[in-house]
This record gives sequence, structure tokens and C-alpha cells, in this order.
Amino acid sequence: MNVPTQAAGVPVGIDDISFATGSYRVDLADIAPRLGAEPAKYHKGLGQEQMSVVAPDEDPVTMAAAAAAPLIERGGAEGIRTLLFATETGIDQSKSAGVYVHALLGLPDTVRTVELKQACYSATAALQFAAALVARNPAERVLVIASDIARYDLDSAAEPTQGAGAVAFTVAANPRILRLDAANGVHTSDVMDFWRPNYRTQALVEGKLSIGAYIDAVAGAFADYRERGGAAFDEIDWFCYHQPFTKMASKAHLMLSERFGLDMDKARAEEIIAPTTGYNRRIGNSYTASTYFGLLSLLDTRPDLAGARVAIISYGSGCVAEFLTGRIVEGYEEMLHAEEHERILAERIRLGDADYYAMQTRVIEDQGNHSNIGEGLRRGTGPFSFTGVEGDKRRYVRRAD
Ligand code: COA
Repeated sequence: MNVPTQAAGVPVGIDDISFATGSYRVDLADIAPRLGAEPAKYHKGLGQEQMSVVAPDEDPVTMAAAAAAPLIERGGAEGIRTLLFATETGIDQSKSAGVYVHALLGLPDTVRTVELKQACYSATAALQFAAALVARNPAERVLVIASDIARYDLDSAAEPTQGAGAVAFTVAANPRILRLDAANGVHTSDVMDFWRPNYRTQALVEGKLSIGAYIDAVAGAFADYRERGGAAFDEIDWFCYHQPFTKMASKAHLMLSERFGLDMDKARAEEIIAPTTGYNRRIGNSYTASTYFGLLSLLDTRPDLAGARVAIISYGSGCVAEFLTGRIVEGYEEMLHAEEHERILAERIRLGDADYYAMQTRVIEDQGNHSNIGEGLRRGTGPFSFTGVEGDKRRYVRRAD
């Protein structure tokens, strides 16, 4: 019997990429008076303008399916044998949220589906696992989806850093967007900077501790990346950082540049990071998806990237970090959908503070289950809908069904 062996040296990376978000948005200027803050604190201090909010019939599954559907429409399902679902907004302790997405997308049954968790980091683990599978068999493609809803206690300092979104991408041989470099660096240390016990809908966070843990972990991952033959910090053209709030990316860039002895000031760090922050400024924190919204923002807004070396800098509280790089592929512009992405953001429905507060309060009281999605509740406008829990089973439909 002729068993195929591993193919050596095939370029692997991100072949297509797409996003979805909640159907509603809150402008942070509208919640600032309740929180006793100047809007400038959020706009300038945190680098956030808005945050996406999900309707009661939207959750990580509906956003994930909406993000991935265009990839299947454009590229079909052929060769997809693995679906990796990265999230820290788990909807079940046992069943992978990816299995619901698999059904909603009508994928073939010859697919392995699994959910991965490590705070905001796990989509990057999924990218690496996917790359390894494709390197072993370049005929395969892997569908990676990162989907999360960031919820903190209402009236807390973390409330303006909420958000919701999903990014889906396919990993393939001879990718058309980003070809991964072989070098990567990783870091794990046990820190209680952010966590969400099973009994809570909202995360708990030690914000200031988290900022320091993020910098230390990314510095550790970068040192490991360098030891494994990675590029020097100043040989990298663009830096897509995890963005719990976008100011964190320029803060990290400034602090890391200083640690590595590079000449950098606050204004220059902000300028370098700016093309990666556009989507996250409007969507808010999307946990696992945040770094990849950074990449999408760069791709959609900055022209002439072909050949550029881009760093993906992933941090998941708790904590794990990874630093990896890739090169933007010649002709990547053909794969962009910037107008569609702008349409999705522009069409979100604005909620005033009172309506948003009432909706979030209800979600928290219901533990995010929405067990009775009755009349009178706001609905989402995306292609998939969560219709509620019947007999302890979550139900979803394609909205046109
Ligand atoms: N105009 C401009 N900037 C202002 C301002 C104003 N009127 N008022 C305050 N600021 C600035 C502050 O100087 C500060 O900037 P700096 O950090 O560069 O010094 C920034 O706004 C934030 O102010 P601060 O008082 O530190 O904010 P806070 O106590 O409300 O908390 C977070 C901010 C980010 C710590 C909090 O929102 C949080 O914990 N969020 C969750 C973070 C997270 O998710 N971490 C885990 C994943 S990595």
C-alpha cells in the first residue's frame, strides 16, 4: 500500500479571511456620562470609539457562521477536513461550538471539528495547528474561526473595553494572502490577570496587572522567536498586536521597542500601529479574533503590502503569548473585501445607553442563555440566528430558513 509521507518546504499560510460582528453598536461617548468619564478618556486614553453588541439571538456560533460563510461561498468546502473553533465564550462545557457552525454551513461530514481555549490566544494556536496539518498534506485546507463576546461587569472600569466579533480564515498551501515564516516564539506563565469562572457570564480582570503580564509574555515569546531564527524587531514591517483596547498595541510597541534598545517614541509607535487598529477601534475587544481584526484592518486600509513582513502577536491572559511572522503574498489585493467589511460595520444599529444597559442586564440575568427569546426582544440582522434553548438544547437557524 502506498501511504503518502510529509511534503517538505511547501509554503503555508492564510489563504482567505473574512469577519462578522454583532448587529448593534454603542458609541462610547454615549456611555461616558454614566461612567463619570470624559469621552476623550475612551477615544484617546483607550483608543476606542465604539463597541459592537450582540442581539439576544446572536452568540459566538452565529457570528462564527456569518464570518465563515463567505469563505465557503468563495472557495467551496473541497479539501476542508478540519474546523478549529477558537473561543473563550464557550456555550457548552462539552460540545464544541464548531459543530453547530459545521451544520449551519452545510460542511461535509468528513471534517474533524474541535474547540480551543486559552483566553484571547487560542486562534493563534489554531493557526499553528492548521499550518502543521497542511504541511503534512498540502491538498488539505483548514477552516479556523475565532469568535467571542467580551463582557465585563456593567459600571466597571472594564465596561468600555467590551466588544464582539468573529474572524474566519482558511489555512492552505501556496496561500494567497500571508505566507508564514518557519520561526515562531511561544511563552507560558501562570498569572491571574483575567479569567471567567464557569458560573460567570462576565469576565473578571485585573486591568493593570494584565498590561504588565502582556508585555512580559510578548517579550518572552519574541526572545524565543529570535532564538529560533526569527527576524530582528526592526526587520519587521508591520505589527498586528492583540488589542484588548487599541491603545494597548501602541503601548506594547513602545515598551517592547525600548526593551530591545530601539529608538522609539509614543507618537511614532502610534503611527506604526495605526493601520492595524481601525476595525478594533469600532468593534471593541473580540478576544480571540482581535489580533486577526488587526491583520484585516492592515490589509484593508494600507495599500502596497506585497512582500512586507508582518508580525502576528498574540496574547491570552492567564497567560500564553506567541510571536510569529509571515510575508504578504504578491497579488493579495485580489483577496480583499474592504467595501463589504465597511458595509457590515456601517449597518450596525446604534443603541443609546439606556437601551444597551437594559439589554446587557437581561443577558447577564439570563446567564447568556436567552432561554426564552420571546417577542419584544431586539433581533440581529446577520444571516444566522440563535432561536433559544429547548430541552437544554441550543437551536440555530439560517435566518432565511
Ligand atoms: N483624556 C485623555 N486620556 C485620558 C483621559 C482624558 N480625559 N482620562 C484618562 N485618560 C487616559 C489615562 O491617562 C490612561 O492612559 P495611559 O494608560 O496611557 O496612562 C488611559 O486613559 C486609561 O485610564 P485609566 O485611568 O488607567 O483607566 P481605567 O482605570 O478606567 O482602566 C483599563 C483602563 C484598560 C485597565 C480597563 O478598562 C480594563 O481593565 N479593561 C480590560 C482590559 C483587558 O481586557 N485585559 C485583558 C486582556 S489583555
